[in-house]
Amino acid sequence: MGNEAIRQVAEKIKASNSVVVLTGAGISQESGVPTFRGKDGLWKDFRAEDLATPEAFHRDPVLVWEWYNWRRGLIKPLKPNPGHYALVELEKRIPDFTLVTQNVDGLHRAAGSKDPIEMHGTIWRVRCLECKRSFENREVPIKILPECEACGGLLRPDVVWFGESLDTKILHAIYTYLQRAEVMLVVGTSAIVQPAASFGIVAKRTAGAFVAELNRSRTHQSPVFDLSIQGKAGELLPQLVDYVRP
Ligand code: OAD
Repeated sequence: MGNEAIRQVAEKIKASNSVVVLTGAGISQESGVPTFRGKDGLWKDFRAEDLATPEAFHRDPVLVWEWYNWRRGLIKPLKPNPGHYALVELEKRIPDFTLVTQNVDGLHRAAGSKDPIEMHGTIWRVRCLECKRSFENREVPIKILPECEACGGLLRPDVVWFGESLDTKILHAIYTYLQRAEVMLVVGTSAIVQPAASFGIVAKRTAGAFVAELNRSRTHQSPVFDLSIQGKAGELLPQLVDYVRP
């Protein structure tokens, strides 16, 4: 596989008008961001699933903010890696290009991606539980407990937690792009958390898209896709861009 498979994806991209890329924690792994489902993702023996919930925040907002302060501190000095930059290059070459990320680390924007759809929100924004306004906030550490500058209400991270629904406008936009995708790349995601886990399958079934998975390991979805290419996103994506370049 390796390069030949990447070359095949590049040929499909060159022949297509519409490309959608879905990224997960794997694309930021080479920047130093811990993935969710590895042991590195743990904080004081808590799993993300135990802290990233509205119930956890209601029960113990200090604990949840301490965890976000740990994550903000960890991510703040990190830089995008060649995988992020390769997607910026790809975007320049494809007129109808959509980047959807499950990541909340902000690294696609930092790399220069124009308008990534951050479907799970971003840790660099906070939202007021009272007046619902949302603000950019890059303080590390953030003052615990943070208060809304407009109304004094309690602020929470502006991210989507387990058990919460995605913004319907965002979801609607994503499905519109998936339904016209000719090629889709599914990069560095374990494809366990819905609805993102179904996007590759939606693109394949509804749009007949050619779907390629790029992941360090095989996933439970690998057999469903047209190609499953094993390797690091930070190496495979730059190779892909080299083949796509005229
Ligand atoms: P996971 O941690 O579940 O999966 C990361 C995937 O990346 C795995 O399949 C790894 O094999 C792969 N991987 C690791 N390093 C890689 C590399 N250098 N190059 C390519 N692939 C690599 O993360 P997600 O699938 O993104 O949700 O998790 C999805 C959602 O679950 C997250 O957005 C978050 C989490 O709970 C919310 O916060 C709502």
